[in-house]
Amino acid sequence: MKLLIAYASKSGTAKKAAEELAAALPNHAVTLADLAVQQPDPAAFDYAVVGGSIRMGKAYKPLRRYLAAHGKALADVPHALFLCCAFSDQLEHYQAITFPTALRESAEHLVYFGGELDVAKQKGIDRLLTRMMRSAIQNDEDGELALPGYLPEHVRLLADVLRKK
Ligand SMILES: Cc1cc2nc3c(=O)[nH]c(=O)nc-3n(C[C@H](O)[C@H](O)[C@H](O)COP(=O)(O)O)c2cc1C
Repeated sequence: MKLLIAYASKSGTAKKAAEELAAALPNHAVTLADLAVQQPDPAAFDYAVVGGSIRMGKAYKPLRRYLAAHGKALADVPHALFLCCAFSDQLEHYQAITFPTALRESAEHLVYFGGELDVAKQKGIDRLLTRMMRSAIQNDEDGELALPGYLPEHVRLLADVLRKK
């Protein structure tokens, strides 16, 4: 089938997830789209996987732009949605503010691909903010927070389901 995998990624985590998903689906005609570069019409595909990262409490801008322009068309195509973020306890909130209700409710899969707080991958102010987020987690007095990581096994689980379509 014609499969769209579209991502918005500032420092590479969502891009890595999208690329690994695409590589795991050789039986489909996959279009891998960086939403910062191109915003494909979902109506041209049999299935769409769309997502990206959370930055400063909201979805990275190219994903927000895409959902504003194509969210309704996306809801009419079988689809899966994903997010990458550092604070997984906030995941449901991020899903709710990123994806319109109709899109979430019609999604076959709503997936979390993890998140990275890698200082070396950031530039400028993002580097400083990453350091601050890391130390907030490490110094959390309740000990409830843990440094996040990328979750390739979640990518593989989605790939296993999509490969059979
Ligand atoms: C400047 C900055 C702001 C971030 N803000 C949030 C946030 O508000 N909530 C969260 O859970 N994660 C936040 N993160 C963590 C990112 O979601 C995480 O680094 C993710 O792996 C980024 O994916 P990307 O490289 O595809 O953009 C932030 C990271 C950076 C660098």
